[in-house]
Amino acid sequence: MEVVIRKDESSVAALVADAVDRLARAKPDAVLGVATGDTPIPLYRELARRVDAGAIDLSRFRVVMLDEYLGLPAHHDQLYRRFVEQEVIGPLGIDPDRLYGPDSTARGEQVDRAALHYDTLLTRLGVDLQILGIGSDGHIGFNEPMSSLASRTRIKTLTEQTRRDNSRFFHGDLARVPTHVLTQGIGTILDASHVVLVATGVGKAAAVAAAVEGPVTARVPASALQLHRHVTVAVDEDGASELRYVDYYRHTYDNKPDWQGL
Ligand code: PGA
Repeated sequence: MEVVIRKDESSVAALVADAVDRLARAKPDAVLGVATGDTPIPLYRELARRVDAGAIDLSRFRVVMLDEYLGLPAHHDQLYRRFVEQEVIGPLGIDPDRLYGPDSTARGEQVDRAALHYDTLLTRLGVDLQILGIGSDGHIGFNEPMSSLASRTRIKTLTEQTRRDNSRFFHGDLARVPTHVLTQGIGTILDASHVVLVATGVGKAAAVAAAVEGPVTARVPASALQLHRHVTVAVDEDGASELRYVDYYRHTYDNKPDWQGL
């Protein structure tokens, strides 16, 4: 895993935006996997700024989602699809037809079929670059601790902690937070050609250290990324504060040939 430490969240955003820019130039119709949550917002804003300035064109990208709630009405404002439309698709000038995600309207026995359908679609499209956040418990997507490291897209039951954390988006009312989601599995995420995990702030420092330098274990789902051949961990100083080998990461990145990119 390559760990790149930048001063603050805006320099992390610029670093990852450069990688997206590079991908767009090499492959204008690339498939970009996007994460929801607070962490990637500065990245999406930086990309939007570059699109507005005419510096990059992402209009031919196809965008794939990581996870989605089940059980909400089709037009609910907390569906992750709404987040991706508002933060990614609209600002980056991408046609909404080019956005793919799990079917949040699936119910009962349709759910497994919807999961398989989305997983098959991801395999067919092939994700070129997957942006990931990390939970303070080490989750990626909605793969909570103890998820199978080989898992595919499937239904997951949210932990009470995750539902409590997310209740802020549901007027603080835990009863309104869905209990189930569809999420790309860890094995599905590992199929992406390049994975960029973005983590900023001291609240993520322990999870980053466990994922990067700890053992590969289902207790820390992000640790499975150690098995992937091309992962970049983009962190700010706070997010890196519990890493042990920071001198090595800085030395490696400082001496990296320019042509290599991330
Ligand atoms: P956050 O969420 O970016 O809002 O911290 C990350 C995650 O839980 O995956």
